[in-house]
Amino acid sequence: MKRRDFFIKTGVLLGSAPLLPVINSSRIAAQTVIQKSGKPVVISSANGLRAAEKAMDLVKEGSDALDAVIAGVNIIEDDPNDHSVGYGGLPNEDGVVELDSCCMHGPTHNAGAVAALRNIKNPSKVARLVLERTDHVLLVGEGALRFARAHGFKEDNLLTDKARKIWLNWKESLSKDDDWFSPEDADKDIKNIIKTTGTITCCALDRNGNISGVTTTSGLSFKIPGRVGDSPIIGAGLYVDNEYGACGSTGRGEENLKNLSCFLAVEFMRMGDLPEEACLKVCRRIADHAKLRSLLKEDGKPNFNVSFYAINKKGQYGAASIYGPRKFVVHDGSKNQLLQAAYLYKK
Ligand code: GLY
Repeated sequence: MKRRDFFIKTGVLLGSAPLLPVINSSRIAAQTVIQKSGKPVVISSANGLRAAEKAMDLVKEGSDALDAVIAGVNIIEDDPNDHSVGYGGLPNEDGVVELDSCCMHGPTHNAGAVAALRNIKNPSKVARLVLERTDHVLLVGEGALRFARAHGFKEDNLLTDKARKIWLNWKESLSKDDDWFSPEDADKDIKNIIKTTGTITCCALDRNGNISGVTTTSGLSFKIPGRVGDSPIIGAGLYVDNEYGACGSTGRGEENLKNLSCFLAVEFMRMGDLPEEACLKVCRRIADHAKLRSLLKEDGKPNFNVSFYAINKKGQYGAASIYGPRKFVVHDGSKNQLLQAAYLYKK
């Protein structure tokens, strides 16, 4: 990412001074904060092996972390076989795919997001344009689509045949009292998909020591139209503090919205926790807050899962889930691998 591509709102010409907080709506190019060079690191959810590979290739070539992570997750958004993200994502209860995404650029502490976006394969690219080309952070629904059209995005039908069959099977299996019959001969991989909250998140520390992240999803499958989860909400599904670290999340978005979980994880790192401990503490906090009977199983434990993936300024990384074992992806510059995340409870 080129420096001139980033803007902050300030009334003062900064020159080489450090970034200042929002003062008014005039804009000037921000000074990218160059930290001491370190080893680049990329972290992602378990579906992010190809995303991490791509992001690492780019940061090794000297790309800004935001360029790298967005290019990385675009691969998964384009993949019809990942039913949790972009093209091929599972639709809402009306059979319409609605996508959510946000991104955050550490050096400028700027963010962009879109929610309930239809017809556009790569919501993360639109989120990034919200960051770069508007004075706003979050655009939703029809407004987000019009913004994407204005920037030349091509519209597609995002509902693949497989995703449509999974949705139809869900709809036909809802009740014995309606007029829809479940198929008797549906494929196992169509029948076995129940409500899911799959998502991809990817954060990177680049060669300049700067951190950025992105989260992108089709959200909760078969959701009520217009439902927005944590993934486009800064602090809930993603947070970056360029001085301390970044965290992204997958899993039940409603709990991340109620706990502002990724912000909390970064705050724990700011207070000195290593990434894995910070992620585990957020899992504990969420489990403690899950007091509603409908969110607890008979054994008093949560009836949902959430996972966190964090890196800090030193390039240390870690991940944790409420339920494990689960894997996560780390590319440390030499190896791109699936590692075991920490967890509170065994599945
Ligand atoms: N974490 C994805 C969602 O709940 O929408």
